[in-house]
This record gives sequence, C-alpha cells and structure tokens, in this order.
Amino acid sequence: MGKTAAAVNFALTAAEDGNRVLLIDLDPQGASSFYFRVKPSSKLKAKLFLSEQEKLRQNIRASDYANLDILPANLSYRNFDVMFKQMSRSKHQLRKVLKSLKSDYDLLLLDCPPSISLLSENVFNAADLVLVPVIPTTLSERTLGQLWRFFKDNDYDTRKICPFLSMVNYRTRMHKDVSERLHKDYKRVLQGYIPLSAEIEKMGAQRAPIFAYARNHIAAKCYQMMWSELRNRIEAL
Ligand SMILES: Nc1ncnc2c1ncn2[C@@H]1O[C@H](COP(=O)(O)OP(=O)(O)O)[C@@H](O)[C@H]1O
Ligand SMILES: [Mg+2]
Repeated sequence: MGKTAAAVNFALTAAEDGNRVLLIDLDPQGASSFYFRVKPSSKLKAKLFLSEQEKLRQNIRASDYANLDILPANLSYRNFDVMFKQMSRSKHQLRKVLKSLKSDYDLLLLDCPPSISLLSENVFNAADLVLVPVIPTTLSERTLGQLWRFFKDNDYDTRKICPFLSMVNYRTRMHKDVSERLHKDYKRVLQGYIPLSAEIEKMGAQRAPIFAYARNHIAAKCYQMMWSELRNRIEAL
C-alpha cells in the first residue's frame, strides 16, 4: 500500500523540480484523479484509451499545479484485461499508447491498480522503472518476492524493480528487522523511506498532495528526498 500516495506526491515534486509531468491514472477507482480534483474521464473508455490517440490527448487535464497534467481514470478501466486479451501482442499495447506522449512530457507516471494482471504486464513492458512500495511486514515482503519471481520467470528485467519502504514505523521491532532484511536481499531498494504518518493520511480529506497543506512536514520531505534518489536512477537509465 502507498502506491497512489507515492504517485501523487512524486508527480507534484517532480513537476516542482521543473519536469513536465503527466500522471496517468490506470486504476478504475480513480484515486489519484480524486486527489487532484480531476473528474473521471467518462468519455475515454478503455477501448478508446487503447485505440484513439487523439481522444486520449483530448482527455488530458491540467492540474492546479504548474507543469503537471493528469489523465484521469474511469470505471471502464476495469476492462483493460479483457481488451488486451483480444489484441495481438497483448502485453505491448500500453507501450505503444505511451510512445506518442513521450515527446510532450519529461516524465510519465502511471498509478496502477494492485495485482499482477495483463495490465500490469503491459506496465512492466512499457515502464523504465517499476516503483514498488513495501510495508516492512512479512506479507508485503512476500508480495515483493512474488513480483521478483514473476519478473524472473517471464524474462522481465528485474533491474526495473525499484522497491521502497512505505508506511514505516521504526518503533516496531518487525519494521526494523524486515527493513534491514530487504536492504540486504534487494540491492535496488531505495535508501529513503516513507513513514507511517497521519499527515499523509489527511490527503484524502484535503484532496491534495501533502505539499499543498504540510509542505514542511517530515513526511513531505521524505517524498522529496525519495524523488531526488529516483531522479538519479532515471538519469542513470
Ligand atoms: N505513509 C502513509 N502513512 C499513513 N497513511 C498512508 C500512507 N500511505 C498511504 N496511506 C493511506 O493508506 C491508504 C491507502 O494508500 P494508497 O496510497 O491509496 O494505497 P494504494 O494506492 O497502494 O492502494 C490511504 O487512505 C492513504 O491515505
Ligand atoms: Mg491506488
């Protein structure tokens, strides 16, 4: 957990850093669109998303922040897997769609729904980096292990996987132990971490990234520091 919170906060911090950013909400529940107060794109059904470049562009919305645009989601995105199944090269369709947007933006950020699906395989093929929040618990560690294995078994490049510690509470022994183990087991875990924080939780009530209402809070600084780390990874690609 913490995918959407991270996508939203990285999107804004990267935009403030001078990058032209497009945040693409791929989750039918549309949480990142909600945080940016952008209405669901009722006209851009999943089928059009995949086949009509022009329509897709028309549905990109400006956010309230400079340099940051949003492509909102809608409920029809729950059908992505069915659509992909009917297409040839069913795991490479998203890459094709994103290609034409690449020239307009410095950074395309995809907020994905959970689970490993055909949509996520499209993401694995399209993305340069796959950010994976890991809560320092046994279950979350196991989920990262499954994802890693899936990459290996299906010939995806495991170097794309960028795990980071999310919702961390270092007052608990388990969080400390699991964090240490993760850093030992996975060389590419980001050094920074996102703390468990009531201030991050308030994003829902505020309908805004943390920078909009608590810019100086430690949790906001953690997202900023993690973005710097990510920027280095992106530059090294
Ligand atoms: N670091 C954090 N500390 C406290 N609450 C968090 C943190 N990150 C996310 N949350 C809260 O947990 C819930 C799920 O987070 P979210 O980012 O939407 O997860 P995902 O997109 O992975 O399902 C949200 O209510 C969010 O506000
Ligand atoms: Mg989410």
